[in-house]
Amino acid sequence: MKFITGAALSALTLSFASLPAFAGDIEAGESAFQSQCQNCHNVTNEAGDVLAGRPNMRTGPNLYGVIGRQPGVVDGFRYGASLVEVGESGVVWDEEVMVAYLLDPTTYLRDALDDRRARSQMSFRVRDEATARDIIAFLGQFGAVEKEEAAAEGS
Ligand code: HEC
Repeated sequence: MKFITGAALSALTLSFASLPAFAGDIEAGESAFQSQCQNCHNVTNEAGDVLAGRPNMRTGPNLYGVIGRQPGVVDGFRYGASLVEVGESGVVWDEEVMVAYLLDPTTYLRDALDDRRARSQMSFRVRDEATARDIIAFLGQFGAVEKEEAAAEGS
């Protein structure tokens, strides 16, 4: 940090302050998460604090820090083979990938793997793209900042 001038530093701070940049609306995303996602998922940080949804909800994987990471890698969750395979192919959960997945998980997996027999274990679809983007903006709050900071430190 000692080689960075004050101006560059405040530019850096500004760019962090404006992260993450998602198209959706966080508040609308929170209520959509509550009505559509928390029957199966929650958001629990490394310390075990439940930041969204209910404790002990393990039907679907913990969604803490999901944006920006590889699909299918939450420890101890038994994913379907297709989602794990997509993750191993180098895909990362960014906004566009997750919109496609949320609108139709099975079709997303089939297209991504070019395999008509690919299957999703998530039997739920978000009905419209705007709601999917709102939920993604909501989820983007959890874990992303820590990851940016770790990247900035070069760890
Ligand atoms: C009926 C239960 C259920 C509902 C409702 C549900 N999911 Fe899921 N979700 C799952 C399951 C099960 C998986 C694991 C899928 C697999 O292994 O193929 C999953 C996987 C995911 C993943 C991949 C996570 C990872 O670790 O790679 C994301 C992202 C996700 N769901 C988001 C959502 C969002 C957002 C909603 C609300 C719009 C939602 N899900 C609603 C059951 C559900």
